[in-house]
Amino acid sequence: MHKKLFIPGPVEIDPEILQAMATPMIGHRMPEYARLHGSVTSGLKQVMATDNRVFLATSSAFGVMEGAVRNLVQGRCVNFCNGAFSDKWHDVTRRCGKEADAVKVPWGQPITPEMVEQALATGRYDSFTLIHNETSTGVMSPLREIMAVAERYPDVISIVDTVSSMSALPVPVDELGIDVCIFGVQKAFALPPGLAVFSASERSLERAKCVEGRGYYFDFLEFAANDDKDNTPSTPCISLIYALAKQLERIFAEGLEQRWCRHRELAASVRGWVQERGFDFFVAEPYRSLTLTCVANNRGIDLKKLKGALGERGYAFDDGYGKLKGETFRIAHMGDLQLDDLNKFMSVIDELLPGV
Ligand SMILES: Cc1ncc(COP(=O)(O)O)c(C=O)c1O
Repeated sequence: MHKKLFIPGPVEIDPEILQAMATPMIGHRMPEYARLHGSVTSGLKQVMATDNRVFLATSSAFGVMEGAVRNLVQGRCVNFCNGAFSDKWHDVTRRCGKEADAVKVPWGQPITPEMVEQALATGRYDSFTLIHNETSTGVMSPLREIMAVAERYPDVISIVDTVSSMSALPVPVDELGIDVCIFGVQKAFALPPGLAVFSASERSLERAKCVEGRGYYFDFLEFAANDDKDNTPSTPCISLIYALAKQLERIFAEGLEQRWCRHRELAASVRGWVQERGFDFFVAEPYRSLTLTCVANNRGIDLKKLKGALGERGYAFDDGYGKLKGETFRIAHMGDLQLDDLNKFMSVIDELLPGV
């Protein structure tokens, strides 16, 4: 039995998307691929509101997250850490042999503009990493305010992960001044995993030219040179790119504004349910994510049992990430999810709660 995914990624995929993946194969050096590549990158620029170059990498998000630090950290980087994925990004930065410091806050807290100001004002850093929406904790940091701080430090390259926010809410890359904006497609974009997208500003590409040890697979300059021909350095995941083309068509048919509005409605519905059932939120306002809700298990529910029972009813449920397992659970409300489906899921939880 297929379990309907209410976990924070991968998310449920529309059958139309799966169908698009069955399109007969083409060669990536054929003109048909260049046309496909050109059309998806121009659609992505619209969603990301950027005139920067947009590249397609055949990997999960962390491929490009690692690639970005290898390409852009020349001297020293600061990693802002407030959850599992941002903590890991710091570790990855160090593993790439880069000088890096972590500014860490407890899980459940946001990164604030003040923290960013304090770090950048030291003059020690030429780059920083930030996760807009920490999926492990359901915290959304105030990106606009943070980028307003970053704007005052033009020599510092901003590397921002929007894995679980891009397309669910406005992230206008150029207006915010994000140098490198990265996302994997298996979350808010609602595609199967295996493809990462990133935009790169001119100054980030200039920086890359001066950085040694960029490797090959994620060398930003290779991406730029190949993109000039609407292509990729290595064989891309063409089936997924067909799926992306279909998804962009669907996103524009729904309308970006409507997609953002639907995500606000989904979030409001889950938040209402959480309050009505007497649960606490793990995250304080105004930092609650719009794409997933992390719920504190203050009612002492046997989450493992609930997960099992939901599994038997055909639903995949998340009982907390890493060290938060058992203490919190997360309900994802991102991608192509519709309000009726979400409410049905919560009504099934309601039926099961008395027994757990
Ligand atoms: C915010 C965020 N960043 C990075 C990642 C890592 O992505 P991937 O597993 O695609 O490398 C995830 C995955 O859950 C995520 O939620």
